[in-house]
Amino acid sequence: MRLQNSFKGRPDDIILVSNPKCGTTWLKALAFTIINRSRFDFDHHPLLTHHPQLVIPFMEIFNGNNDLNNLEKLPSPRILATHMPFSLWPESLARSSCRIVYLCREPKDVFVSRWHFENKILVGHHKIDLEVAFNMFCEGFSPYGPFWDHTLEYWKEHNTTADRVLFLKYEDMMSEPTKYVVSLAKFFGVPFSEKEHEDGVHEEVVRLCSFENLSNLQINQIGEMSRMKNLVLERSTFFRKGKVGDWVNHMSHEMGKKLDKITEEKLKGSGLVL
Ligand code: A3P
Repeated sequence: MRLQNSFKGRPDDIILVSNPKCGTTWLKALAFTIINRSRFDFDHHPLLTHHPQLVIPFMEIFNGNNDLNNLEKLPSPRILATHMPFSLWPESLARSSCRIVYLCREPKDVFVSRWHFENKILVGHHKIDLEVAFNMFCEGFSPYGPFWDHTLEYWKEHNTTADRVLFLKYEDMMSEPTKYVVSLAKFFGVPFSEKEHEDGVHEEVVRLCSFENLSNLQINQIGEMSRMKNLVLERSTFFRKGKVGDWVNHMSHEMGKKLDKITEEKLKGSGLVL
Protein backbone atom coordinates (compact mmCIF):
# COMPACT_ATOMS: atom_id res chain seq x y z
CA MET A 1 0.00 0.00 0.00
CA ARG A 2 2.88 2.31 0.85
CA LEU A 3 4.39 1.65 -2.54
CA GLN A 4 1.07 2.12 -4.31
CA ASN A 5 0.53 5.44 -2.55
CA SER A 6 3.98 6.92 -2.89
CA PHE A 7 6.09 5.26 -5.57
CA LYS A 8 6.72 7.42 -8.60
CA GLY A 9 7.38 5.41 -11.75
CA ARG A 10 9.61 6.85 -14.44
CA PRO A 11 9.15 6.12 -18.16
CA ASP A 12 12.73 4.87 -18.48
CA ASP A 13 12.65 2.53 -15.46
CA ILE A 14 13.70 -1.06 -16.13
CA ILE A 15 11.84 -3.52 -13.92
CA LEU A 16 12.99 -7.11 -13.40
CA VAL A 17 10.09 -9.31 -12.33
CA SER A 18 9.94 -12.89 -11.14
CA ASN A 19 8.13 -15.15 -8.76
CA PRO A 20 10.50 -16.03 -5.88
CA LYS A 21 12.85 -18.92 -6.77
CA CYS A 22 12.52 -18.45 -10.51
CA GLY A 23 16.08 -17.15 -10.95
CA THR A 24 15.86 -13.57 -9.66
CA THR A 25 19.46 -13.62 -8.42
CA TRP A 26 20.70 -14.67 -11.85
CA LEU A 27 18.56 -12.09 -13.67
CA LYS A 28 19.79 -9.32 -11.37
CA ALA A 29 23.41 -10.30 -12.00
CA LEU A 30 22.89 -10.43 -15.77
CA ALA A 31 21.00 -7.14 -16.03
CA PHE A 32 23.52 -5.31 -13.83
CA THR A 33 26.47 -6.67 -15.81
CA ILE A 34 24.97 -6.01 -19.25
CA ILE A 35 23.85 -2.47 -18.48
CA ASN A 36 27.05 -1.43 -16.69
CA ARG A 37 29.52 -3.23 -18.92
CA SER A 38 31.29 -0.09 -20.12
CA ARG A 39 31.90 1.01 -16.50
CA PHE A 40 33.53 -2.10 -15.05
CA ASP A 41 36.07 -4.55 -16.37
CA PHE A 42 35.52 -8.21 -15.67
CA ASP A 43 38.62 -8.60 -13.46
CA HIS A 44 37.54 -5.89 -11.01
CA HIS A 45 33.81 -6.32 -11.28
CA PRO A 46 31.42 -5.33 -8.43
CA LEU A 47 29.89 -8.82 -8.59
CA LEU A 48 33.19 -10.21 -7.32
CA THR A 49 32.66 -8.33 -4.07
CA HIS A 50 28.88 -7.74 -3.86
CA HIS A 51 26.03 -10.24 -3.66
CA PRO A 52 23.89 -10.06 -6.86
CA GLN A 53 20.75 -9.59 -4.76
CA LEU A 54 22.20 -6.31 -3.45
CA VAL A 55 23.32 -4.70 -6.71
CA ILE A 56 19.71 -4.14 -7.81
CA PRO A 57 17.16 -3.14 -5.13
CA PHE A 58 13.68 -4.56 -4.80
CA MET A 59 10.85 -2.03 -5.00
CA GLU A 60 8.80 -3.61 -2.21
CA ILE A 61 11.38 -5.31 0.02
CA PHE A 62 12.97 -2.75 2.29
CA ASN A 63 16.09 -3.52 4.25
CA GLY A 64 18.79 -1.39 5.89
CA ASN A 65 19.72 0.80 2.94
CA ASN A 66 16.86 0.73 0.52
CA ASP A 67 13.57 2.40 1.14
CA LEU A 68 11.24 4.49 -0.99
CA ASN A 69 13.32 7.64 -0.49
CA ASN A 70 16.45 5.93 -1.68
CA LEU A 71 14.67 4.56 -4.74
CA GLU A 72 13.69 8.16 -5.50
CA LYS A 73 17.31 9.25 -5.31
CA LEU A 74 18.56 6.71 -7.86
CA PRO A 75 19.64 8.25 -11.16
CA SER A 76 17.73 7.37 -14.33
CA PRO A 77 17.48 4.91 -15.87
CA ARG A 78 16.80 2.93 -12.70
CA ILE A 79 16.97 -0.85 -12.65
CA LEU A 80 14.60 -2.19 -10.01
CA ALA A 81 13.34 -5.64 -9.14
CA THR A 82 10.01 -6.86 -7.86
CA HIS A 83 8.12 -10.04 -7.07
CA MET A 84 4.78 -8.19 -7.02
CA PRO A 85 1.97 -9.31 -9.31
CA PHE A 86 1.29 -6.77 -12.07
CA SER A 87 -2.18 -6.07 -10.63
CA LEU A 88 -0.56 -4.70 -7.45
CA TRP A 89 1.83 -2.33 -9.21
CA PRO A 90 1.63 1.37 -8.33
CA GLU A 91 -0.50 3.10 -10.99
CA SER A 92 2.25 5.49 -12.05
CA LEU A 93 4.49 2.57 -12.93
CA ALA A 94 1.88 0.27 -14.48
CA ARG A 95 0.79 3.04 -16.84
CA SER A 96 4.31 4.25 -17.65
CA SER A 97 6.36 3.09 -20.61
CA CYS A 98 8.92 1.37 -18.36
CA ARG A 99 10.48 -1.80 -19.74
CA ILE A 100 9.73 -5.06 -17.94
CA VAL A 101 11.66 -8.34 -17.98
CA TYR A 102 9.64 -11.24 -16.61
CA LEU A 103 11.43 -14.45 -15.72
CA CYS A 104 9.36 -17.57 -15.12
CA ARG A 105 10.29 -21.15 -14.30
CA GLU A 106 8.79 -24.60 -14.37
CA PRO A 107 6.58 -24.81 -11.23
CA LYS A 108 7.78 -28.22 -9.94
CA ASP A 109 11.35 -26.90 -9.77
CA VAL A 110 10.09 -23.63 -8.26
CA PHE A 111 8.25 -25.49 -5.52
CA VAL A 112 11.27 -27.65 -4.64
CA SER A 113 13.58 -24.64 -4.66
CA ARG A 114 11.22 -22.73 -2.37
CA TRP A 115 10.85 -25.65 0.04
CA HIS A 116 14.64 -25.83 0.42
CA PHE A 117 14.89 -22.04 0.75
CA GLU A 118 12.26 -21.81 3.48
CA ASN A 119 13.73 -24.72 5.42
CA LYS A 120 17.08 -22.98 5.36
CA ILE A 121 15.93 -19.52 6.46
CA LEU A 122 13.69 -20.71 9.32
CA VAL A 123 16.27 -21.21 12.05
CA GLY A 124 15.28 -23.41 14.98
CA HIS A 125 12.09 -24.49 13.22
CA HIS A 126 11.24 -28.12 12.56
CA LYS A 127 11.59 -29.17 8.94
CA ILE A 128 8.62 -28.10 6.80
CA ASP A 129 6.67 -31.17 5.75
CA LEU A 130 7.12 -31.50 2.00
CA GLU A 131 3.65 -32.92 1.40
CA VAL A 132 1.88 -30.22 3.44
CA ALA A 133 3.85 -27.49 1.64
CA PHE A 134 3.13 -29.14 -1.71
CA ASN A 135 -0.62 -29.20 -1.11
CA MET A 136 -0.56 -25.54 -0.10
CA PHE A 137 1.41 -24.62 -3.23
CA CYS A 138 -1.13 -26.50 -5.36
CA GLU A 139 -3.96 -24.58 -3.65
CA GLY A 140 -2.29 -21.29 -4.55
CA PHE A 141 -0.55 -20.41 -1.29
CA SER A 142 2.59 -18.63 -2.44
CA PRO A 143 4.18 -15.46 -1.07
CA TYR A 144 2.95 -13.29 -3.96
CA GLY A 145 -0.30 -15.09 -4.71
CA PRO A 146 -1.02 -18.21 -6.74
CA PHE A 147 2.02 -19.08 -8.86
CA TRP A 148 0.12 -19.40 -12.15
CA ASP A 149 -1.89 -16.17 -11.78
CA HIS A 150 1.35 -14.26 -11.32
CA THR A 151 2.84 -15.69 -14.50
CA LEU A 152 -0.36 -15.28 -16.52
CA GLU A 153 -0.69 -11.60 -15.62
CA TYR A 154 2.73 -10.86 -17.13
CA TRP A 155 2.15 -13.24 -20.05
CA LYS A 156 -0.95 -11.19 -20.87
CA GLU A 157 1.03 -7.95 -20.67
CA HIS A 158 3.71 -9.47 -22.91
CA ASN A 159 1.09 -10.43 -25.48
CA THR A 160 -0.41 -6.96 -25.40
CA THR A 161 2.87 -5.04 -25.56
CA ALA A 162 5.72 -7.36 -26.57
CA ASP A 163 8.15 -4.48 -27.02
CA ARG A 164 7.53 -3.46 -23.39
CA VAL A 165 7.56 -6.86 -21.72
CA LEU A 166 10.30 -9.37 -22.43
CA PHE A 167 9.08 -12.78 -21.25
CA LEU A 168 11.81 -15.29 -20.41
CA LYS A 169 11.93 -18.86 -19.14
CA TYR A 170 14.68 -20.09 -16.78
CA GLU A 171 15.00 -23.36 -18.70
CA ASP A 172 15.51 -21.62 -22.07
CA MET A 173 18.13 -19.34 -20.55
CA MET A 174 19.93 -22.29 -18.99
CA SER A 175 20.15 -24.08 -22.34
CA GLU A 176 21.23 -21.04 -24.42
CA PRO A 177 22.51 -18.36 -22.02
CA THR A 178 24.50 -16.44 -24.65
CA LYS A 179 21.47 -16.05 -26.91
CA TYR A 180 19.45 -14.58 -24.03
CA VAL A 181 22.25 -12.27 -22.90
CA VAL A 182 22.28 -10.85 -26.42
CA SER A 183 18.45 -10.43 -26.38
CA LEU A 184 18.55 -8.78 -22.96
CA ALA A 185 21.18 -6.26 -24.11
CA LYS A 186 19.06 -5.42 -27.14
CA PHE A 187 15.94 -5.06 -25.00
CA PHE A 188 17.75 -2.75 -22.56
CA GLY A 189 18.75 -0.57 -25.51
CA VAL A 190 22.47 -1.38 -25.19
CA PRO A 191 23.06 -4.05 -27.88
CA PHE A 192 26.50 -5.66 -28.18
CA SER A 193 28.56 -4.04 -30.92
CA GLU A 194 30.33 -6.08 -33.59
CA LYS A 195 33.61 -5.46 -31.80
CA GLU A 196 32.13 -6.70 -28.51
CA HIS A 197 30.91 -9.83 -30.30
CA GLU A 198 34.37 -10.39 -31.74
CA ASP A 199 35.94 -9.86 -28.30
CA GLY A 200 33.47 -12.31 -26.75
CA VAL A 201 32.08 -9.76 -24.25
CA HIS A 202 28.66 -11.47 -24.31
CA GLU A 203 30.36 -14.76 -23.39
CA GLU A 204 32.21 -13.06 -20.54
CA VAL A 205 28.87 -11.83 -19.17
CA VAL A 206 27.52 -15.39 -19.24
CA ARG A 207 30.62 -16.72 -17.49
CA LEU A 208 30.68 -14.04 -14.77
CA CYS A 209 26.99 -14.57 -13.95
CA SER A 210 26.96 -18.35 -14.21
CA PHE A 211 25.83 -20.40 -11.22
CA GLU A 212 29.26 -22.08 -11.07
CA ASN A 213 31.11 -18.79 -10.91
CA LEU A 214 28.83 -16.82 -8.58
CA SER A 215 28.19 -19.67 -6.15
CA ASN A 216 31.94 -20.18 -5.72
CA LEU A 217 32.72 -16.58 -4.81
CA GLN A 218 33.43 -16.05 -1.14
CA ILE A 219 31.07 -13.07 -1.02
CA ASN A 220 28.20 -15.41 -1.94
CA GLN A 221 29.28 -18.22 0.39
CA ILE A 222 29.95 -16.66 3.76
CA GLY A 223 27.90 -14.38 5.98
CA GLU A 224 24.37 -13.19 6.50
CA MET A 225 22.38 -10.84 4.33
CA SER A 226 19.68 -10.11 6.93
CA ARG A 227 18.23 -11.42 10.17
CA MET A 228 14.74 -10.94 11.60
CA LYS A 229 13.92 -12.95 14.73
CA ASN A 230 14.16 -16.58 13.62
CA LEU A 231 14.38 -15.70 9.91
CA VAL A 232 18.03 -15.74 8.90
CA LEU A 233 18.96 -15.05 5.33
CA GLU A 234 22.45 -16.27 4.58
CA ARG A 235 24.18 -15.11 1.42
CA SER A 236 24.57 -18.71 0.26
CA THR A 237 20.82 -19.40 0.48
CA PHE A 238 20.28 -17.96 -2.99
CA PHE A 239 22.54 -20.58 -4.55
CA ARG A 240 21.53 -24.20 -4.23
CA LYS A 241 21.86 -26.40 -7.33
CA GLY A 242 20.96 -24.20 -10.27
CA LYS A 243 19.70 -27.18 -12.29
CA VAL A 244 16.67 -27.85 -14.45
CA GLY A 245 14.52 -30.81 -13.34
CA ASP A 246 15.81 -31.26 -9.79
CA TRP A 247 12.22 -31.83 -8.64
CA VAL A 248 12.56 -35.55 -9.46
CA ASN A 249 14.97 -35.89 -6.55
CA HIS A 250 12.42 -34.61 -4.04
CA MET A 251 8.88 -35.16 -5.28
CA SER A 252 7.08 -38.41 -6.07
CA HIS A 253 5.97 -39.19 -9.60
CA GLU A 254 2.34 -38.72 -8.46
CA MET A 255 3.05 -35.29 -7.03
CA GLY A 256 4.73 -34.34 -10.29
CA LYS A 257 1.72 -35.52 -12.27
CA LYS A 258 -0.68 -33.64 -10.00
CA LEU A 259 1.23 -30.37 -10.38
CA ASP A 260 1.57 -30.83 -14.16
CA LYS A 261 -2.20 -31.28 -14.39
CA ILE A 262 -2.89 -28.14 -12.38
CA THR A 263 -0.43 -26.18 -14.53
CA GLU A 264 -2.03 -27.48 -17.72
CA GLU A 265 -5.50 -26.48 -16.50
CA LYS A 266 -4.43 -23.06 -15.27
CA LEU A 267 -2.58 -22.18 -18.48
CA LYS A 268 -5.18 -23.67 -20.82
CA GLY A 269 -5.97 -21.40 -23.74
CA SER A 270 -3.24 -18.89 -22.84
CA GLY A 271 -0.67 -20.18 -25.34
CA LEU A 272 1.88 -20.39 -22.51
CA VAL A 273 3.58 -23.71 -21.83
CA LEU A 274 5.70 -24.21 -18.69
P1 A3P B 1 17.54 -24.08 -7.08
O1 A3P B 1 17.03 -24.00 -5.67
O2 A3P B 1 16.69 -24.95 -7.96
O3 A3P B 1 18.98 -24.45 -7.17
P2 A3P B 1 15.80 -16.78 -6.84
O4 A3P B 1 17.05 -16.09 -7.21
O5 A3P B 1 14.60 -16.28 -7.58
O6 A3P B 1 15.63 -16.84 -5.37
O7 A3P B 1 15.95 -18.28 -7.36
C1 A3P B 1 16.87 -19.16 -6.75
C2 A3P B 1 17.12 -20.31 -7.71
O8 A3P B 1 17.98 -19.85 -8.78
C3 A3P B 1 17.86 -21.44 -7.02
O9 A3P B 1 17.44 -22.61 -7.71
C4 A3P B 1 19.30 -21.07 -7.31
O10 A3P B 1 20.20 -22.14 -7.16
C5 A3P B 1 19.20 -20.61 -8.76
N1 A3P B 1 20.29 -19.72 -9.16
C6 A3P B 1 20.94 -18.80 -8.42
N2 A3P B 1 21.90 -18.20 -9.13
C7 A3P B 1 21.88 -18.76 -10.36
C8 A3P B 1 22.65 -18.56 -11.56
N3 A3P B 1 23.63 -17.68 -11.58
N4 A3P B 1 22.34 -19.30 -12.64
C9 A3P B 1 21.34 -20.20 -12.60
N5 A3P B 1 20.58 -20.45 -11.50
C10 A3P B 1 20.84 -19.73 -10.40
